[in-house]
Amino acid sequence: MGKKRKLRKSLHKREIDDTPALVICVGKSCAPREVSRQLADQTRAYATASGSRVRVAVIGCLHVCKKGPVVATWPDIEFHKRVDLARACRLVDELAAEAPDVSEKTCPSEHAP
Ligand code: FES
Repeated sequence: MGKKRKLRKSLHKREIDDTPALVICVGKSCAPREVSRQLADQTRAYATASGSRVRVAVIGCLHVCKKGPVVATWPDIEFHKRVDLARACRLVDELAAEAPDVSEKTCPSEHAP
């Protein structure tokens, strides 16, 4: 089974929908666990502070297992290696920019003249 298919299966089990997300591996084979967990915490804090709709999720392994921390984008899966906080924040911004603005779709009366 391919890496992308494994990730899809794992996230569907966790009932993660197609909301844009950054999935960070916190397994111990690709990078020290404390480094990955700190990256996840800081990236989640950035996403929250910036008001982004992008979720930051953690997973036990992304089956890349080298040159970590390893991160995957969701729902358009791309794997990224050696991700630091600056790069993770850029990925959050890119995912937010690609995501449709739900507020405009659900509240059209707010935008009416
Ligand atoms: S332990 Fe991180 S990708 Fe496998």
